[in-house]
Amino acid sequence: MIRDDYYILTDIVPVNSWSNGGYIMDVTVNITVNGIKKTITTNAERSLLDVLREELHLTGTKYGCGEGRCGACTVLMNGKRILSCVTPVVQADKKAITTIEGLAKGDSLHPVQEAFLAEGAMQCGYCTPGMIMTAVALLEKNPNPTDEEITTAMNINMCRCNGYPKILNAVRRAGKK
Ligand code: FES
Ligand code: FES
Repeated sequence: MIRDDYYILTDIVPVNSWSNGGYIMDVTVNITVNGIKKTITTNAERSLLDVLREELHLTGTKYGCGEGRCGACTVLMNGKRILSCVTPVVQADKKAITTIEGLAKGDSLHPVQEAFLAEGAMQCGYCTPGMIMTAVALLEKNPNPTDEEITTAMNINMCRCNGYPKILNAVRRAGKK
């Protein structure tokens, strides 16, 4: 299920792609990724996740289910979290994307990253980038969430290591900063 605070993925219509006899043409998109402008020419149906990982080598964003069900691929688009595995890259045209690599400022980690480290809120770490990006989006909107608000906001992000209690502690801790 796609939460209503995500972009409504079913409304997505490629803005500058077109097909010709069933063949999807390449398109050129301009995306600002972690503050740096990128121009990418690629298949219009390619996912943003694929472009981030394979073209831009930003492998911090993870591929989990590939169908919008686990949150491992969460990034921010114009400050709002999205599931990049089910977002066609054309939807990112002229948008600002923030990935886990874009959170730290030089040697200073983002407060949410610091909180995850302080609470030891990771085991294998595969879900962690998506968890952190979701927490960043939540705390931008609601700096002091209740536990219920945290769990509601984070419930699309799955942790196969079942590290939820420490993840909750980390988001609580970040919210107090
Ligand atoms: S990889 Fe995107 S939601 Fe699972
Ligand atoms: S820490 Fe392993 S999936 Fe969450």
